[in-house]
Amino acid sequence: MIAIGCDHGGYKLKLEIIKHLKKKGIECVDFGCPSADAVDYPDIAFPLAESVAKGEFEKGILICGTGIGMSIAANKVKGIRCSLCSDTYSAHTTREHNDSNVLALGARVTGVNLALDIVDAWLGAAFVGAHHKQRLEKIKAYEQK
Ligand code: RB5
Repeated sequence: MIAIGCDHGGYKLKLEIIKHLKKKGIECVDFGCPSADAVDYPDIAFPLAESVAKGEFEKGILICGTGIGMSIAANKVKGIRCSLCSDTYSAHTTREHNDSNVLALGARVTGVNLALDIVDAWLGAAFVGAHHKQRLEKIKAYEQK
């Protein structure tokens, strides 16, 4: 189960991602927004990110026009490692090295087919641990200050 959310800029791409994941047998819980009417991205990013941080979802996907607003907001939530990706190399590497738990996408930057490949690359990769773990521990320690 994946948590997914968007603002108006990401609404159409969100529907494509939900459809794509459904075909692969992956269900999404939709945190909104429910239409292409304008909303403020933090209103979607914070509830989704908090839900992931609490462990209610292992992973989340946030989409806005650039992906930047969503990633800035999500990364304010303790325990969230939100990665804005516009290529598949970054998408799988951020899972492998950063144990990314939220993916941000920019619907006005990244075309639908590439976005779907990015989603697949991100979901298909796993954290490799090892020396990357100590780096994440440093981020965790900083968050606790
Ligand atoms: C909305 O117009 C746009 O600002 C938003 O989707 C996003 O790109 C913000 O970072």
